[in-house]
Amino acid sequence: MSEFTIIRLGHQGDGIAEGPVFAPMTLPGEVVSGTLDGNRLRDLRIVTPSGDRVAAPCRHYKSCGGCQLQHASDTFVADWKLGVVRQALAAQGLEAEFRPIVTSAPKTRRRASLSVKRTKKGAMAGFHARGSDVIIQIPDCQLLNPNLMAAIPVAEKLATIGGSRKGELSVLVTLSEVGLDIAVSGGKELDEPLRLALSAETETHKLARLAWDGEVIGQREPPVQRFGKALVAPPPGAFMQATPDGEAALLAAVREIVGNAAQVADLFAGCGTFALPLAERAEVHAVEGEAAMVAALDLGWRRAEGLKKVTHEARDLFRRPLMPDELRKFDAVVIDPPRAGAEAQVRELAGSEVPKIAFVSCNPVTFARDARILTEAGYDLQWVQVVDQFRWSAHVELVAYFTGKDV
Ligand SMILES: C[S@@+](CC[C@H](N)C(=O)[O-])C[C@H]1O[C@@H](n2cnc3c(N)ncnc32)[C@H](O)[C@@H]1O
Repeated sequence: MSEFTIIRLGHQGDGIAEGPVFAPMTLPGEVVSGTLDGNRLRDLRIVTPSGDRVAAPCRHYKSCGGCQLQHASDTFVADWKLGVVRQALAAQGLEAEFRPIVTSAPKTRRRASLSVKRTKKGAMAGFHARGSDVIIQIPDCQLLNPNLMAAIPVAEKLATIGGSRKGELSVLVTLSEVGLDIAVSGGKELDEPLRLALSAETETHKLARLAWDGEVIGQREPPVQRFGKALVAPPPGAFMQATPDGEAALLAAVREIVGNAAQVADLFAGCGTFALPLAERAEVHAVEGEAAMVAALDLGWRRAEGLKKVTHEARDLFRRPLMPDELRKFDAVVIDPPRAGAEAQVRELAGSEVPKIAFVSCNPVTFARDARILTEAGYDLQWVQVVDQFRWSAHVELVAYFTGKDV
């Protein structure tokens, strides 16, 4: 056994000692001992704990791979997440004013991707153990909304019916306004007997919807989500923000940036998380790559009362970004790309006259790259609001406010 001093945390939340040697569940300044397995430390023992170390709130934490940072105080995690964004910006030569982080409370996650496999006795649903394919059960999970926990026995039942002996099912469970919305992948191929059996489970468990490899098997009610005044039923598996209060924090920052803009573009709009609430005050043009998400957004808008006009298009913004002449009519643009960022679209924004940009990002590195393109073109980065809706994980999300040349 050798001793190592942890210097910093890596982007996955693992402690890193000189080498680099990776030591999960450790903190900067800690002296740890263990056995080297490649560049990872096993059989870890904390020799000198950090003052930021706390007892993990969840009894599953030692083995479960769902959380990475429960051994650290809330203050440490908040500072670390702000630091991740600050460093990503610094690597691009940028600085920003940071607003206080907003962190989602425990037990508020409204969506989870459960791993489920058949066992001799039936089936087992949970999360993968840390660094392993083994599934561990999580009856006392501190992340998930208690109503979402009800999906665990349902997922197990679905696996006994439609899981193969060897493979593992991936069961995406989401709380909707009218009950559980479940999307399964990796199971047996659908045939009529399987369809009938699964459809019966939709009734037995009073699921809002059950989808199997993208096909809707049963739907008792449209599994709607509320976006402002609109109710939207997203297609199975469609993106949505992880917690209601995380979404509210992102939306509050976006609303503040958009202010009283009359014409707003919402790029990478999903099913309308921002576009529909913004339509209470502005006309909105929503652009999203997935046609089914655009259709859901449109239906939600049509059925809502009291919203201004929302136009939309299904468009690949990596290949066909909105060009400066298309952007000219907007007083504000909201942009919320996937982890890859939005380099092509941001280059066109950089050449535009859009006065205000609300940039929502789930990847500080691609955000900082795109922020540099904007600032080099004359945009000012006014502030950054970090939102931690993936509590106890290494994920970082943010909203940033850019003002154009004449603002
Ligand atoms: C981080 S999500 C944000 C969605 C929405 N703003 C929300 O908050 O719910 C990113 C969205 O970008 C969409 N997307 C991914 N690649 C795209 C592309 N090349 N062109 C347009 N949209 C894309 C995804 O389908 C997803 O809805």
